[in-house]
Amino acid sequence: MDSYPNEHPQLKELKTASFTKYGSRSIMSVPADEAQCLSMLLKLTNAKNTLEIGVFVGYSLLSTALPLPDDGKVIAIDPDKEAYEVAMPFIREAGVEHKIEVVESTASPILTDLLNNGKEGTFDFAFVDADKESYIDYHEKLLKLVKVGGVIGYDNTLWWGSVAYPDDVDFFKDFTDHNTEKGRWRQRIREQIKKFNSYLASDPRVETTLLSIVDGLTLCRRKY
Ligand SMILES: C[S@@+](CC[C@H](N)C(=O)[O-])C[C@H]1O[C@@H](n2cnc3c(N)ncnc32)[C@H](O)[C@@H]1O
Repeated sequence: MDSYPNEHPQLKELKTASFTKYGSRSIMSVPADEAQCLSMLLKLTNAKNTLEIGVFVGYSLLSTALPLPDDGKVIAIDPDKEAYEVAMPFIREAGVEHKIEVVESTASPILTDLLNNGKEGTFDFAFVDADKESYIDYHEKLLKLVKVGGVIGYDNTLWWGSVAYPDDVDFFKDFTDHNTEKGRWRQRIREQIKKFNSYLASDPRVETTLLSIVDGLTLCRRKY
């Protein structure tokens, strides 16, 4: 049975290509239900110009480009060219290549360049799904880049539900890699996401809602 009968055929094929190349790492892409939620949001808000931080194999990128109008554009930033090139044949086949500009870089300097090049207040939407330790830095820059009324989406703000646990509960203890570098990284990111969630909760410039979809998707609407 197909769980997502409305998933675009090129998204389905991209998912298969991602699994073939990256195996279990392909879990880094947003799942179909979150992508469909983003797609719906873009349509409801008539988004035209968007930003994406963290492309990987381009599942969320293609999911963003598809609902944009024909003269819409998504600027997507990721230093990993090998990964996002996986997306290119599927993006071409879907007929949305002209709506996409991928910038091979880490995000922060590109956001600064956009601000220095008159792009303040020009984006309708931004999706952030990379480098969780920089979410506060991205937020400060994106709040200037999106227009008033524009929306920023931050992925993984539940961090496997761990943000809701008291600090004395070792959420990751059941994972076999608890004492490994990966386990320590998970704990570190948990702290960063908790800090970010608190930061957003007290930020008067945005109205926020944390959707408990997949690993948590926080939507922030710029108020002024
Ligand atoms: C979770 S994956 C993105 C998945 C993608 N949004 C999707 O749903 O299909 C995270 C990506 O962020 C990229 N990344 C890591 N650090 C980054 C940075 N400082 N700036 C931009 N991208 C970064 C990685 O190369 C990786 O491809």
